[in-house]
Amino acid sequence: MKQEFDLLIRNASIVDGTGALRYPGDIGIRGDRIARIGDLSAAGGDREIDLGGRIAAPGFIDAHTHDDRLMLSSPDMAPKVSQGITTVVAGNCGISLAPMPRPIPQPVTPPLNLLDEEGGWFSFPTFASYVARLRETPPATNCALLVGHTTLRVATVDDLGRPATQEQIGRMRALVSEAMEAGAVGVSTGLFYEPSVAAPTEEVIDVCRPLKQSGGIYCTHMRDEADRVVDSLEETFRIGREVGVPVVISHLKVVGPANKGRSQEALDLIEKNMAHQPICIDCYPYTAGSTILSADRAASSSRVIVSWSKPLPQYAGQNLDAIAASMGVDQDEAIRRLSPAGGIYFRLDEGDVQTILKHDQVMIGSDGLPHDASPHPRLWGSFPRVLGHYGRLLGLFPLETAIYKMTGLTAKNFGLKDRGVLREGAYADLTLFNADTVDSAATYEDPIAPAHGIETVIVNGVAVWQGGRSPGARPGRVLAREVQPAGA
Ligand code: ZN
Ligand code: CU
Repeated sequence: MKQEFDLLIRNASIVDGTGALRYPGDIGIRGDRIARIGDLSAAGGDREIDLGGRIAAPGFIDAHTHDDRLMLSSPDMAPKVSQGITTVVAGNCGISLAPMPRPIPQPVTPPLNLLDEEGGWFSFPTFASYVARLRETPPATNCALLVGHTTLRVATVDDLGRPATQEQIGRMRALVSEAMEAGAVGVSTGLFYEPSVAAPTEEVIDVCRPLKQSGGIYCTHMRDEADRVVDSLEETFRIGREVGVPVVISHLKVVGPANKGRSQEALDLIEKNMAHQPICIDCYPYTAGSTILSADRAASSSRVIVSWSKPLPQYAGQNLDAIAASMGVDQDEAIRRLSPAGGIYFRLDEGDVQTILKHDQVMIGSDGLPHDASPHPRLWGSFPRVLGHYGRLLGLFPLETAIYKMTGLTAKNFGLKDRGVLREGAYADLTLFNADTVDSAATYEDPIAPAHGIETVIVNGVAVWQGGRSPGARPGRVLAREVQPAGA
């Protein structure tokens, strides 16, 4: 007999993603939507899951990822769905896979090599061709896509050490318009990184102009996250004001021992400006960062782990000081021999990480680097670590608040309609988990490990993680940014 629901989740503790207190109930799913929430003990489902009081939450939204290529090369998205993530925001830090209207330079210009060291995946001449590929061969998760300013520079600027010319800015702006028409939600920058550090504020503003009309958002890995963090925040606010769009400050942090404790100062400045313009923030729950290996970043870190090395791959996962000692050279020479390479840098203060993490406007974003041989554990562990280590063990926030930071708040900021909340009519993106055991299993020493406590993960009504494995379903969609017109 055909049952009333395709999937019926019984005896759930429902954490709805708005920050509201959990409540007991059943959830009936039909097709890709939540059809009913309430006491459904008289109803039946073609499939049923009895949670026995464990948690049903909206699927987690990873506000900050570099999954542009992972969605195509590993569409099961195991590092993501295994920690309860059902939507990824890709194309962050100025780095997007598309568009690349001319051949990518060889070797691939860092940091674009974080997506693909060989370069063959930079094969989408337009943003529309990339979106079309994602629709033809969808991954397990939904995505919202940013177009990266560094990618646009590599695609149009010949001398990357200089500001773009008016003509090059015009071409980048046309590529932004094309990307927004094709379904991008905004532009990201990585003004901290080599090929974009040469871009003055005015270049960014001019390139981002099309965002206002298309209702886009501006996300930034700021120019400086250390001594000059305040200048960088002011630059970010100015770009948002002059373009006329919301800004997202990516992985907010204050780097280096000299800036210990300054997270509160950064948050105070952000709060002050939030009164005048829309500002969003994401962060990851670790005291180490990760990006390409460089001598200056290593010099300001207390410990460095090599996450990948093209010429010497056998050193991935080892400490840089041990590698240098075994080579009989100093750290700088070891970095020269290992490069191109990636590093994990211990250089944040735990108190600052917690101050930022618990701020009520801060979203969770993993910033995971999915193609590193020995990745930072944030790739597999960010979301369960927030729920387990920081929520349950350290008591930084109640479960409902932690979930809000990874669902409702993120969907609101990125304009993802009917996502990030559990209510009738919303999309059936859900994560079912055990609040008593949920935590990251990934560590710096052993970084590739599915989380503890995540039981079933559902995207658009279809299970993408169950019983500790991917069943192979790929129901993910490219999501649009839908924002209320001003004044509505
Ligand atoms: Zn970044
Ligand atoms: Cu990033």
